[in-house]
Amino acid sequence: MLSAARADDRDLYAMVEEFFRSSFATDNELITEAVRRMLAAGGKRLRPRFTLLAAEAAGGRAEDHLRLAAFMELIHVATLIHDDVVDGAVTRRGVNATAVDFGNRISVLAGDYLFAWIFKNVTADYERPIPHILSSTLADITDGEVLQLKALADPDTTLAAYVEIAAKKTASLFAASAECGALAAGAGPFAVKALREFGTAYGIAFQMRDDLLDLTADEATLGKPVGNDLRERKMTVPLVLALAGGDREFRSAVERFFAAEDERPEDVAAIVAGIGAHGGLVKTEAVLAGYVERAKQALAPLGNAPALAELTALADALL
Ligand code: IPE
Ligand code: IPE
Ligand code: MG
Ligand code: MG
Repeated sequence: MLSAARADDRDLYAMVEEFFRSSFATDNELITEAVRRMLAAGGKRLRPRFTLLAAEAAGGRAEDHLRLAAFMELIHVATLIHDDVVDGAVTRRGVNATAVDFGNRISVLAGDYLFAWIFKNVTADYERPIPHILSSTLADITDGEVLQLKALADPDTTLAAYVEIAAKKTASLFAASAECGALAAGAGPFAVKALREFGTAYGIAFQMRDDLLDLTADEATLGKPVGNDLRERKMTVPLVLALAGGDREFRSAVERFFAAEDERPEDVAAIVAGIGAHGGLVKTEAVLAGYVERAKQALAPLGNAPALAELTALADALL
């Protein structure tokens, strides 16, 4: 049975922050410093929120699951440290990417150490299937990042191939965050499955929004580089859908852009304009809205407890 109401209006974000301030440290000073720096830089803390809200939706108390929620954010931070090395990104959360301040070598090792440290703790503290879910999630994230590299600059990338990549690299951690929160709070299989499905659909929509922001936002607001996806030759969803329109000239322009050694800012701007002109942004909004709807439908059978309403609001915020 799902809980009817949250005990009060505590700020889950503040609880997670306090937990990091008071409780996060590893045995390695350099790694603790690199991770603390990335935690202090901010971020939306969405994954721990998913864990705490799923726990509350299952009748648990958020304060009993702060440690599990923190592990979700730490997995996320480790993947970001590695992702910025892989993507050659120089800014993250409005500060230098870890690789800029610590170098690629320390960044790779810091991410590795952090993963190992998290799993050492999770396997000691949590019963199955939680450690198993988190291990598979990490395998999925890595798989997704590798699939994405294999699809770089491939104009034949389909929407289905894109969705598989987004589901693995991004949605898997949202799904696991919700699923593990529900499991830790003792939810039954029906609620666990629904919350996991919510996380998957939400995560795919989230990655689509992230792809759009890379084309349309400004760096100061976003806290990370914009236009980086095109420079990295990444097949983001707006580009995939713009190419799906079948315009030969646009396809050639994209191919020339990807083949160029050094693209100029005006070349990036021309491709961004082409994506818009070929419906890439509008079509992405429509597909994204479909995933938001799927996310909400997954939760609908669980009722409308405040924690569920909050998850639904997070999904609506992607629109
Ligand atoms: C960034 O995630 C990585 C993606 C999956 C696109 P967020 O946008 O949640 O990053 P932070 O945690 O707010 O910095
Ligand atoms: C994020 O994909 C996937 C991760 C697993 C970190 P992106 O490469 O689009 O994320 P950003 O845009 O760098 O945050
Ligand atoms: Mg990236
Ligand atoms: Mg991105």
